[in-house]
Amino acid sequence: MSRPTAVDRIRPVASGDVDAIVRGLADATMAGLGGRLRERLDPSQAAMRFATSRPEFKVGLFRFVDVLPACSGVSGTWGHLAEYVGAAHAPAAVRLGLGLADAVPGIGHRVATALARAGVTRMARQFIIGETPEEVVPKLRALWLDGFAWTLDLLGEKTITLAEADSYAGRVLGALTALAAEVPSWPADVRLERDPFGPLPRIHLSVKPTALAPKLSALTINEGVTQAMERLEPILDVARRVGAIVHLDAEHDEAKDGGQALLREIGRRYPDGPLLGCVVQAYRRDAADDLQSLVRWSGDTLGTPLQIRLVKGAYWDAETIAARSNGWASPLFEVKSHSDANFERCALELVSACAAGDVRPAFASHNLRSLGLAIAAARAHELAPDAYEVQVLHGMAVPLHAAVRDLGVRTRVYAPMGDLIPGMSYLVRRLLENTANESFVQHSQRSHGGELDELLSDPARAAAPAPNAPPSPPQPQEPSMTVGGTANFRNEPVAELRRPATRARIVEAIGAARSLLGGDVPLLIGGTGRTTGEWMESVDPGDVATMVCRAAM
Ligand code: FAD
Ligand code: 2OP
Repeated sequence: MSRPTAVDRIRPVASGDVDAIVRGLADATMAGLGGRLRERLDPSQAAMRFATSRPEFKVGLFRFVDVLPACSGVSGTWGHLAEYVGAAHAPAAVRLGLGLADAVPGIGHRVATALARAGVTRMARQFIIGETPEEVVPKLRALWLDGFAWTLDLLGEKTITLAEADSYAGRVLGALTALAAEVPSWPADVRLERDPFGPLPRIHLSVKPTALAPKLSALTINEGVTQAMERLEPILDVARRVGAIVHLDAEHDEAKDGGQALLREIGRRYPDGPLLGCVVQAYRRDAADDLQSLVRWSGDTLGTPLQIRLVKGAYWDAETIAARSNGWASPLFEVKSHSDANFERCALELVSACAAGDVRPAFASHNLRSLGLAIAAARAHELAPDAYEVQVLHGMAVPLHAAVRDLGVRTRVYAPMGDLIPGMSYLVRRLLENTANESFVQHSQRSHGGELDELLSDPARAAAPAPNAPPSPPQPQEPSMTVGGTANFRNEPVAELRRPATRARIVEAIGAARSLLGGDVPLLIGGTGRTTGEWMESVDPGDVATMVCRAAM
């Protein structure tokens, strides 16, 4: 008989319990929002608010933010500023400022670009806690003294060269070493450093797997895991010695299988620690499958349970555009409430798996309804109050952080550290999130009274599909065309090589084709095969000793 899974053990959650938690959090959050007048007057906040309602300005602003670290000199920066931000649809004050600057090109351009750079830096500072360990460690201490746990995120994105990967690994090790020297002197806080499974490290590190290994992508997973392990081993050795948890963040779809393979390799080599963490993205259609397999793996392999951070996912726009432009079915839900409902479904499974002793759940969201459901589920399953935690992003929905902490739930702030260039993609993701019309944070800052009820309602009511519901058919890359007055023509999408099944089909087809190699192919003239005695040899360009065929000339 197969053993019961987390799904079999899920207990029902009373909607009244969810509502009570959500309303308590909403009241505390709204009270916290009230006193934030200074923030409302901040010009970079004003630009973000303006961007929310003007898509054209938003695109221009984000393009500028994206290129700024690569702009050198006044003229390069001014050119991009004028082209991206200065185009129509910018707020009147911005257009006026740019017009004035252009009227006096030398000094005007210099002042305008300096102001723009300062504005973007100010935006970045909202979401990035600091650039160096010297700057960041005192801020983490202040969080700790204020009753918050934290995870230090080493800002980084996919690397292209091994030198970049080495530099990223060096930064992780540097931060870990600085923290290890500092945190033992902090006062004890039993709520933050114990859970029912045992001691919980003070140091939590979040790393981006693709920043450690240029080859960690779908086609080169094994090489990627080897590259990442070479760089992670010194970090894992120190983490085990000083007692730190190492958390692998989830990134783009392209990196998902590699990230999970890396996690399993770490668990295989370090079954007794350091503690490990990973992420499940509920906006993925396959999230529930991944969650179940990680829960099983944690229970079967690790000496102490894996921490699983449940999120919706930070790459929705990029993944959706990539799938559409390639003509592939999106791996993500396409309706916001479907991601919300899947988050709730996965939260129930996670809580039930925790009750069985298999994993440590972390619910990462700024959506009160999503958090309310997760907390109510934990209570319905009679989890100890310290058995699970809520995680929030530094600078996002700030009043919510204290509201959750004051509920008695361990609250961990995800605190990104690094300089502007590796931080830029992170910043753009936060800006997208903050200005998305569908974002909970956006809605809640605008909502009053009755609208709040709507925001807090059960997303399953919006007819959510079952997990793993088949994706809608791929979007055509371009409209079909009528060719020669008769046939409908549509480009065939390129093979989706990031999927193992597609790769397996290609390998199988190449295997089958081998038996056909080396043959002679006649000319076809008037429907009849002809040979002339003269041949053109075609060889495999990847292995020139292999003849593909001889074609008649
Ligand atoms: P909500 O406003 O309720 O949800 C917004 C989310 O809904 C979007 O981000 C997107 O995921 C989804 N969505 C938006 N539009 C649609 C649509 N049309 N159809 C379907 N879904 C849609 N994400 C990662 O990918 N990897 C990580 O490692 C990671 N770590 C995180 C750590 C922490 C501490 C936190 C708080 C979040 C983390 N995230 C991560 C999640 C991500 O960065 C966003 O913060 C999160 O998705 C926003 O969700 P929400 O519940 O706060 O807000
Ligand atoms: C990101 O990097 C928070 O991991 C998430 O956007």
